[in-house]
Amino acid sequence: KIDKIVIIECGTDFNAGLVGKYAIEKWGNIPVDVELASEYRYREPSLDEKTLVIPISQSGETMDTLMALRYAKSKGAKILSVCNTNGSTIARESDSVLYTHAGPEIAVASTKAFATQLVAMYLIGIEIGRKLHTLTKKEIEVICEEVSQLPARVEQILETVEPLRETTRKFKSAESILFLGRHVGYPTALEGALKLKELAYMHAEGFAGGELKHGPIALIDENVPVIVIAPHDNLFEKTVSNMQEVMARKGKVILISDRRGIEQAGNKAWARIEVPAVDPFITPLLYSVPIQLLAYHTAVVKGTD
Ligand code: M6R
Repeated sequence: KIDKIVIIECGTDFNAGLVGKYAIEKWGNIPVDVELASEYRYREPSLDEKTLVIPISQSGETMDTLMALRYAKSKGAKILSVCNTNGSTIARESDSVLYTHAGPEIAVASTKAFATQLVAMYLIGIEIGRKLHTLTKKEIEVICEEVSQLPARVEQILETVEPLRETTRKFKSAESILFLGRHVGYPTALEGALKLKELAYMHAEGFAGGELKHGPIALIDENVPVIVIAPHDNLFEKTVSNMQEVMARKGKVILISDRRGIEQAGNKAWARIEVPAVDPFITPLLYSVPIQLLAYHTAVVKGTD
């Protein structure tokens, strides 16, 4: 009976929600909006009892998200929240909850909560695809297999952190760091910039690759490291052309890609970070690991708290 989904949240949760939108629209063929709760709650958006609202919150207590939820509820929408904290207010006020079970987030930066929110988004996307028959049994098996391989793949990345540490030493004097990505690489870029701001107290921005020419390119010079998220997928060539535009302005490219991507475009980059090859929709979870580590090691190098 649902004809529209609205995902509402703040901060990191928005980036997970954006990945959720891409996955649910592709796998479930249903329109999905992603909204910042702090905007949504004040603008009287249009929704009704045929809307499914998915609030995402680690703490389950974020006031803007809670107020957006209450507004949606008052309009008759169904609420399925994605929360990490058992029994939190958002969880209690929802029709149903998908708990992420990441354990408590100790530091201010959301890391494991983000990873588990992505898994929750994948599960919702798969379930909708299964119910609406927009995904075949085989397709569901393939995605589930990719998701179940994630722990091993994350371990693989954690074993190769040394080049990352080396890269961050070079960041120390940069005043600004940019992140670029396309498709679900775009929310991954937003997430990378948010983590750098929060941990290393640096100016950082994430952009959709296609937007580079519409303004952000003006920021690029030899002092600006640009982290390019470029899995070897059907948009790889387009992302590489963004990378070339950055390099033409002497920007320093740190390429994050899989083996094929690194082999094809890595020699032109200032630094390279290799991650295992996975289904394009799963890349945000995997690519966010080196991105979180970049922020962490930059913070250590800069001596920030
Ligand atoms: O507890 P919540 O997930 O609702 O918090 C929302 C944001 O404040 C949070 O995601 C924030 O952006 C993170 N600290 C970022 O790492």
